[in-house]
Amino acid sequence: IDVMLQPTPALTLVAIGGILDLYVFLGPDPESVIRQYLQVIGYPMMPPYWSLGFHLCRWGYTTTNTTRHVAQRMHNSKFPMDVQWNDLDYAAKRRVFTFDPWRFGDLPEMVEEFHERGMKYILILDPGISSTSPPGTYPPFDDGLKRDVFIKNATGHILIGEVWPGSTAFPDFTNPETRHWWEDCITDFHSKVPVDGLWIDMNEPASFVQGSVEGCPDSDLENPPYTPTGVVGGQLNSGTLCMSAQQKLSTHYNLHNMYGLTEAYATHSALRKVRGKRPFVLSRSSYPGIGRFSGVWTGDVRSDWEQLRYSIPAVLQFSLFGVPLVGADICGFGGNTTEELCVRWMQLGAFYPFMRNHNDKPNAPQEPYVFGQKAQAAMRSVLNLRYSLLPFLYTLFHHVHATADTVARPLFVEFPTDPNSQTIDRQFLWGSSLLISPVLEQGAVDDNTCLNKGQYLLLPAPLDTINVHVREGHIIPQQEPALTTIASRRNPFFLTVALSAGGWARGDLFWDDGDSLDTFEMGNYCYVIFISQVVSDPVRLNGALDGLVLGGLQVFGVPSTTSLYFSVCRPQKDNDDILQISVFVPKNQTVLSAGLCVCPLPQVLTVTSLALPMTKVFTVQWAL
Ligand code: NOJ
Repeated sequence: IDVMLQPTPALTLVAIGGILDLYVFLGPDPESVIRQYLQVIGYPMMPPYWSLGFHLCRWGYTTTNTTRHVAQRMHNSKFPMDVQWNDLDYAAKRRVFTFDPWRFGDLPEMVEEFHERGMKYILILDPGISSTSPPGTYPPFDDGLKRDVFIKNATGHILIGEVWPGSTAFPDFTNPETRHWWEDCITDFHSKVPVDGLWIDMNEPASFVQGSVEGCPDSDLENPPYTPTGVVGGQLNSGTLCMSAQQKLSTHYNLHNMYGLTEAYATHSALRKVRGKRPFVLSRSSYPGIGRFSGVWTGDVRSDWEQLRYSIPAVLQFSLFGVPLVGADICGFGGNTTEELCVRWMQLGAFYPFMRNHNDKPNAPQEPYVFGQKAQAAMRSVLNLRYSLLPFLYTLFHHVHATADTVARPLFVEFPTDPNSQTIDRQFLWGSSLLISPVLEQGAVDDNTCLNKGQYLLLPAPLDTINVHVREGHIIPQQEPALTTIASRRNPFFLTVALSAGGWARGDLFWDDGDSLDTFEMGNYCYVIFISQVVSDPVRLNGALDGLVLGGLQVFGVPSTTSLYFSVCRPQKDNDDILQISVFVPKNQTVLSAGLCVCPLPQVLTVTSLALPMTKVFTVQWAL
């Protein structure tokens, strides 16, 4: 379909036929349009907590020992990281559902080792099933043949294309039997290699020959009277299957765009069954509704500054499409990165909802530990910042899942009446509370940040800095970072409070075990509301917050004065617990008396070393 933007308010759609369902969402504001759209296509899934941590991948980790070494160096250099990945390197002759006996013979042991260290493991899964292995040697193809799961050509024979392993057949995921076969393949593989998630690539579906190894019939389906301008290779069957190919539900012509969606659904369902936990699937191809089953990455981006910049609108678009779990390959996939680009990309990537550094085979390495000490320090610091913000990010994902909000949010969605916000694509928000203003230009050490209704300020942003602003009136729940989310989830929480001019602020925390299925639907979670002057009110508890404490808070925007009295209180009925209060005292300053805080910065109250149970109501108050 061609979609052409005309002078507002017109849009031209040129469709070549097929099945066209047209919906018009009247809003009136952008947020309502998104919500109305998601009511039709489905609300996004709730991702596992660990999947919001840092992921490291590349094509070219050629053995288990190389892969182990990478994870070990990340750990030794103290970079937070939750998930180690492998690309196609693991597979014997690039055939999915196998692993190379020489280079990856101890893959199951490696995955167990990662698990013991609190990490997760993901590998790639392509849909193309090798069709040339000797009969009886490759069960996915042999069983698939028997169970009749593959897409057929116009004459009813299995359509053969070509992908990484050579000749391949393509599963027809619109056929229920295919989904069962796929689940069996995943179950069998998982019983040997207990992966935590699956990365479904090449699922447009991509093929290196046009249509099939035998070409395609000369028909209107393959060569319609009009071909949309943007089609790769100028023909509908370029780089993919014949349009006349037969699937259970219809011809491929009608289903082509939904191949990735149907594969994501089958993969999500299989993982849900096999692991009994929240599935993680990452897909390259996408279609409306895929956010119910999968995250998406933006494919093979080049390691350059232009692609760094374009990644922001790319990520924001997927927010509008109901795919909140999205990110681009950090430091770029194609070509060699540079140290500066990679630092800036890690800083922006720390605010992609899905954060993965991934690299192509021939390129110079780009794992954080390969760079100089200054670059490493900058990357470590922004990774720690992301990890400290994960309770907030997770709460945003909950709101997306429950009420069709957005995580990475364009400014025009939050400020629809401000015309200045409409064209901003170099900054974005997390929910409605955090403004992210990354450096996107080579050599820049400051950035032009739009802060307030069209007002731009030039703010310093040396290499170790990404500007992040907390919006007035908002409370951000955070947690001390750690090297994995398993560890960070046990750390004390802290609050960053940004008071409005009127002296109030609000925030919340959604918390569950991070991994179980349907916790929101079953009511199996905690929900805490924070209101300033700070009251913490756990309105729902299920045990997940037991033993966890609030360690401190920072309040921005308190009256400008050198000293403040503050008190931390719990309602009478809770006085069974003894409260420990201590105050952060900056150098050269003294505590005048218990409960009196000398503020380190004007208008900022910092309280540390608290240990307030997160499950109890408490208040923090201050006065001149
Ligand atoms: C294409 C994917 O986009 C890329 O991320 C991956 O590394 C290669 N296929 C190899 O599997």
